[in-house]
Amino acid sequence: HIYADAKDASEAVAQEIAALIRQKQAEGKPCVLGLATGSSPKTVYAKLIRMHREEGLSFQNVISFNLDEYYPMEPDSIHSYHRFMKEQLFDHVDIRPENYFLPDGTISVEQIQEFCREYERKIQEAGGLDFQLLGIGGNGHVGFNEPGTLINARTRLITLDHSTRAATAMEFGGLAQVPRKAITLGVAPILNARRIVLLAWGERKAPVIRGAVEGPVTEHNPASYLQAHPNVTFVLDERAASEL
Ligand code: GLP
Repeated sequence: HIYADAKDASEAVAQEIAALIRQKQAEGKPCVLGLATGSSPKTVYAKLIRMHREEGLSFQNVISFNLDEYYPMEPDSIHSYHRFMKEQLFDHVDIRPENYFLPDGTISVEQIQEFCREYERKIQEAGGLDFQLLGIGGNGHVGFNEPGTLINARTRLITLDHSTRAATAMEFGGLAQVPRKAITLGVAPILNARRIVLLAWGERKAPVIRGAVEGPVTEHNPASYLQAHPNVTFVLDERAASEL
């Protein structure tokens, strides 16, 4: 779906998420959301906050699992995805604090494998992801599944690509300060979501969007794995869609 700008596109995505939350509420069921960080989803979260304030959209039945977190990373660090999610969404809506989950950037290396298994188990226990929101890296990464990741990859500790670290170096005050690792939900559990929406804004994303949508399914562009999913939509602004 191609929209004139990110604002219109975000409105449509927020409407879809809100409708799903309300539908699940009416059924007396939890709504299990897979959430993403990065700049792209910010406008979607802003719309959801507005709908909470102005239309009484409630997040009481929402259970959410974020895609990724840097490792190591303290949750209250200004660079953490924990903090990002609190600032961009959780602190402004009525989601229960015990109902949102992110990978833990503070656990010891020895515990990571067990943590990742448990993270996927919790998603299953909640009923599986009803909806997965995704951004896309300039190199095609989804979550932090960098190029070279296999389609059956599970949740795990990964090494960040140089290009991924370079893309965020400014925010960290220099490349040397950017963590070298991260914990990410794997490709397999992402593809298990019943519905996936990937967001991309701006012409910087145009080449990788073209590859993901029209190119072959390849580990060189992990977003291309989404071609294997039966219910996925790429929501783009005109600039991100300009090479399609
Ligand atoms: C980070 C996140 C990804 C996100 C990507 C793109 O690497 N881990 O989940 O999709 O950034 O970010 P942006 O939306 O700012 O372009």
